[in-house]
Amino acid sequence: MAPTSALFGASPDVARRVLDDIEAQFRLSKDDLVTITTQFLEDFALGLGEYNHPMAMIPTFVTGVPNGSETGTFLALDLGGTNLRVCEVELLGNHEFVLRQQKYKVSEALKTGEATALFDYLADSVDAFLTEFASAVPSSPTTEQPNPFASPSLAELDPEPAVPLGLTFSFPVEQTALNRGKILTWTKGFAAKNAVGHDVVQLLQDAFNRKHLHVRCVALVNDTVGALLSRAYTSGGCLLGSIFGTGTNGAYVEHVENIRKLGDSPARQNGGYMIVNTEWGAFNNTRTVLPTTPFDNKVDRESINPRLQAYEKFISGMYLGEITRNILLSLIDAAPKPLLFNGRSSSQLNAHYGLDTAIMSEVEEAWETGRVPTVPLTIDSAVRKEGKPAANGLPSADVASKIPDWQSAHFTDVDSLSQDDLARLERIRGIIIQRLGLDAADVSLRDAAIVRWASSLVANRAARLSGCAVAAVLVQTGRAKLGGGFVTDEEKIIVGVDGSLIQHYPNFNTRLRESLRELVGEEVEKKVDIGLAKDGSGVGAALCALQATKQGL
Ligand code: GLC
Repeated sequence: MAPTSALFGASPDVARRVLDDIEAQFRLSKDDLVTITTQFLEDFALGLGEYNHPMAMIPTFVTGVPNGSETGTFLALDLGGTNLRVCEVELLGNHEFVLRQQKYKVSEALKTGEATALFDYLADSVDAFLTEFASAVPSSPTTEQPNPFASPSLAELDPEPAVPLGLTFSFPVEQTALNRGKILTWTKGFAAKNAVGHDVVQLLQDAFNRKHLHVRCVALVNDTVGALLSRAYTSGGCLLGSIFGTGTNGAYVEHVENIRKLGDSPARQNGGYMIVNTEWGAFNNTRTVLPTTPFDNKVDRESINPRLQAYEKFISGMYLGEITRNILLSLIDAAPKPLLFNGRSSSQLNAHYGLDTAIMSEVEEAWETGRVPTVPLTIDSAVRKEGKPAANGLPSADVASKIPDWQSAHFTDVDSLSQDDLARLERIRGIIIQRLGLDAADVSLRDAAIVRWASSLVANRAARLSGCAVAAVLVQTGRAKLGGGFVTDEEKIIVGVDGSLIQHYPNFNTRLRESLRELVGEEVEKKVDIGLAKDGSGVGAALCALQATKQGL
């Protein structure tokens, strides 16, 4: 790769120059963040105005958010993350819910084979779940609610109703109703044949019918919409639901009149609000403002969807490990002298997607543990009840500003590090040897420092870019101004999040907030309450199924 191949000798100075050069490619200044966010707002406007833009801005036909008083029991099926999940969700009506779930693996063959095989597998999984958990039937809700999620009396709708199921399908789908939508494209490594252009609810219902299952798919929801609805359910309101996991995306509450592509349709004439699924993973597919490096280009070229989902490829868990692997390989292969692992690699490191983002997370965790407090995600009481440790509400900007800038290549000069840091590097060295299958003799403490540095470069850039999407939604919805200087009266701006990166990657949330603060100012950033949308896919699908049954779907 260009930055390393043309150098002669690998004296410490030369090595440092190589690392500094890579580092410079990954840094994002405030001006860069502003440019990216400005482009985001332009792309929002394009997608709201017309169909067929990469950032699809999909109207979801969900026109209200729950308030936590909804009740009922529903089945939910969730496809689109690392696992397939079937859940039974009981909404208790007091901001709390009980969820039972079973996870099923989706093989590579199913992801890329015929769609009917994939949907038959989904139906089989629902069948297996119903057999195992006999109580998975809808219960009649108990109270009348005035909001759009108000509980229907299922018995009134059908004396022997099929089990209503909400489908969380976390791929771009052009929805035309709560229970209808055509698959626009696959993302995140899926490529099942004869699915794009078809109605996903119909594909699933046909599979249920083929298997004679008494289950009816009544609602379709994206995981970001699920995150938004479930955070609204547990905390009483929510502006934005977003996922920072295997993929990335966001859905927010928009004025229907701004969704100009709905034209004169009844949905638009009714006015009010509608949740829009942005599909921001496809932001700037032309890469005019995204800070593309050779390492990113390689990820894109070798992916199953080159030139698509550009933003997602900079941000999400599916790709961060691969970008980091490309950096490490370029240092192993540096000419005329290797700069890493004595020039040796391993079968794991040589394999496409062989470096899991979870390994980066472990490496960073080993470096960060015990240093400074990080900014926790808010955890609502409904979630706390399940035994998770409580995190104290709003993050303070002060905490974020105390986090040192470990990103620098300077931290690869191990001779200047403290004993504590050397001990941390020793732990990282152990992780590398074990998880990447390298020979211990080929992994020095300096190599460990380089792996830590590369991981933090890639992850910090991802978190800072994520801040642009959140800032764009705040500006789009009138909650903030780019550059700061405007403060909404609202006490809190609630954001529901889910996904492995935001939940578990060290400092991801803190770095995202730093970027947000640079973009919209500290006062607004402090009001942004980023909290876990626990089980958002299951709860969101259940809430949509509730709304759908109320509409008689
Ligand atoms: C991908 C999908 C999107 C989903 C996101 C997070 O970007 O296209 O629909 O919300 O991943 O799972």
